[in-house]
Amino acid sequence: MATAAVSALDVRADFPILAREIRGRRLVYLDSASTSQKPASVLAALDDYYRNHNANIHRGVYTLAQEADALFEGARERIAAFVRWPVASTIFTRNVTEAINLVAYSWARATLRPGDAVLITEMEHHSNLVPWQQATQATGAQLRYLAVGDDGTLSLDELDAQLARGDVRLVAVAHVSNVLGTINPVEEIVRRAHDAGALVLVDGAQAVPQLPVDLGAIGADFYAWTGHKALGPTGVGVLHARAELLEQMPPFLAGGDMILTVEAQRSTWNELPWKFEAGTSMIAQAIGLGAAIDYLGALGMANVRAHEQALTAHALERLRAIDGLTVFGPPGAQERGGVISFALDGIHPHDIGELLDRRNVCVRASHHCAQPLMRRLGVQATARASFGPYSVPADIDALVDAIGEAQEIFAG
Ligand SMILES: Cc1ncc(COP(=O)(O)O)c(C=O)c1O
Repeated sequence: MATAAVSALDVRADFPILAREIRGRRLVYLDSASTSQKPASVLAALDDYYRNHNANIHRGVYTLAQEADALFEGARERIAAFVRWPVASTIFTRNVTEAINLVAYSWARATLRPGDAVLITEMEHHSNLVPWQQATQATGAQLRYLAVGDDGTLSLDELDAQLARGDVRLVAVAHVSNVLGTINPVEEIVRRAHDAGALVLVDGAQAVPQLPVDLGAIGADFYAWTGHKALGPTGVGVLHARAELLEQMPPFLAGGDMILTVEAQRSTWNELPWKFEAGTSMIAQAIGLGAAIDYLGALGMANVRAHEQALTAHALERLRAIDGLTVFGPPGAQERGGVISFALDGIHPHDIGELLDRRNVCVRASHHCAQPLMRRLGVQATARASFGPYSVPADIDALVDAIGEAQEIFAG
């Protein structure tokens, strides 16, 4: 099948790791939903910080410390601008999991009461599920789920019915599902939840790397994402939240940097965002994420989205043509991100993963940290191919060829 027309974006050369060969063959990296590869500019930013500017932030008056400060806070400013959110309410965390836990510990435990409910969905990653189990158990509130339809989407009518019960304090929902690829209508969900007096937390882990995200337009109260999936380093995530909420919320972690004054028995809190950043921050990682955002911004997120949508359409077409292969999630590429989970008749996902690895085709085979969704789909696990801006049509062709080989091996 001809693949040249799929999409014009070809930035593989910017990603040093993609030049690697294993067993004499090129690397076909189709696991970007787990973690993305990093462009040379991100590696250079990390190297430059440690080589030329390494000092702790927020405390030093000497030049090196001021440079480190400017790099760290400059990264925060560009990251906030990238998703159109105020810088003072843009908080660095270790990852999206910690960002959601910050809300679950600080906001939820101080707010939820018996008789309240938190509404999540059957397609949530455990990171946007287990913190709500714990917060509702700790407060006596209820945890309820929106069902996932057979087409991999959520029902807004069911959302309305849940909200009409009058007890929902928080709706917590993925922007893009890491298994089904579903792009949820988060703006509409926020509008309906706010009309019913509920707050909304959006897990943007899979969205920020591949969609233009305008947090002002979405209007969520909390929006969390993770740097390593967005071409940045591991060890840094981001929580954007409404400043009025952050002002009222108690600190999540306590210690250095998050205080204004400390007396023997009590302390007062630093201004936003530092009130929620206890201890020495992930300085290098935040600077690296700033470089990643610069890189994505230069590509243009509309171009990234168009590229990944074209790849997804191509992959859906080629995968659906394979006998015995089932694709999960919404039918069309326009309603999904660059993530395709699939099953092959008679071959366990882990065997698919291992056989594909013989061709250096890196896919994930697991429950994808979404066990309730696996139960909903009636499977233990799926194989999953996912794309980044550096993915090219030849990667999909290699995937399809390797699946064919796996089927031949099992048939024989
Ligand atoms: C939708 C979603 N939420 C949360 C996470 C957790 O990300 P992290 O491990 O970086 O906190 C992931 C990662 O797979 C994800 O895909």
